[in-house]
Amino acid sequence: MRFPFPVAAQVPLYLAPMAGVSESPFRRLCRRYGADVVVTEFLSAEGIRRENEATISKLRFSEDEHPIGVQIFGADPHAMGEAAALVTDVFRPDFVDINFGCPVKKVVKRNGGSGCLRDLGLVQEVIRAVSKATHLPVTCKIRSGWNEEMRDPVTIGLRCQDAGVKVLALHPRTRTQMYSGSARWEEIAAVVDALDIPVLGNGDIKTPDDAIRMWQQTRCAGIMIARGSFGQPWIFDQVRDILDGRPMRATPAVEDRFRIALDHARMAEDYEADPRGAAIEFRKHLGWYVKGLPGSSDLRRQLHAVNSIAEVEGIFADYLHRGPTDDARMAHTVQSEVEAEATAA
Ligand SMILES: Cc1cc2nc3c(=O)[nH]c(=O)nc-3n(C[C@H](O)[C@H](O)[C@H](O)COP(=O)(O)O)c2cc1C
Repeated sequence: MRFPFPVAAQVPLYLAPMAGVSESPFRRLCRRYGADVVVTEFLSAEGIRRENEATISKLRFSEDEHPIGVQIFGADPHAMGEAAALVTDVFRPDFVDINFGCPVKKVVKRNGGSGCLRDLGLVQEVIRAVSKATHLPVTCKIRSGWNEEMRDPVTIGLRCQDAGVKVLALHPRTRTQMYSGSARWEEIAAVVDALDIPVLGNGDIKTPDDAIRMWQQTRCAGIMIARGSFGQPWIFDQVRDILDGRPMRATPAVEDRFRIALDHARMAEDYEADPRGAAIEFRKHLGWYVKGLPGSSDLRRQLHAVNSIAEVEGIFADYLHRGPTDDARMAHTVQSEVEAEATAA
């Protein structure tokens, strides 16, 4: 299906918009490891049009991130239009994405994010105002509805399409569900069937196999991955291998994981003005990169206390040199034996 901006892949893989995670360094890294399209975290239309420094600083991106969408949120059509115009003129992304999915209280209480889903007339007004203010394609990301009674992703999708969005991403949970329960992929299939525009499937992809299963079950035009990319940006390359019918490349060995984590950390350090702040902000990524390694809880404890990237280098070098601490190795061995017995039983 045709996307409204150049993208080579038949079924593009998207890095989902994620506040505090899909920032420029992580977006660049994911592009390097196979993401075809990236989206910024959601940014307040008010913050953009008032040129709030913190908001504007999050709009920076590099050439190697294209194709990239800037995601904006807000419930005032006029403000959303102004923000879209500024983003278009000054930052020149490939598309403007509207957030109709954010469940956070602070946002929905002003009808932003998924708050808009209670009033589909407002959803359409916002889309029309944004489309009028930019020559770029306008896309949007929705949930399945505000709550169970109002759950109706097909109607929401049709109204968005009718108002002019060119691509629609669905995370098939309601706002009241937040992240509980499972994403209902059958709702993605229903929206794919009902709409003429490309529909992206999102929700609960943790492994490359999950992505393939979602695609097979829904025939979504593109696949959007959020939490499944944490600490494993190579998931995109792995999904691409399977989609292209190649054997899936192996998950990187520990040394390679550490090298990728350090590349990411250095990009984050270069991007942020304050190196100590960058290291502290980066701690969460470090925790994700070491998840599942023998002795990972001890490693995570050390990494969660770092104040510089140099310290991370030291901790990784030490781990590779000495291996996990004896206690951690023992705990891992015991756990593996328990798991092996449980499987055999
Ligand atoms: C830390 C975090 C931040 C998020 N921030 C945003 C955001 O800024 N905009 C948005 O549309 N969705 C946001 N989401 C929702 C994700 O894009 C995605 O819809 C959701 O996590 C389900 O996909 P997954 O199961 O692949 O994680 C966020 C999710 C997480 C975990």
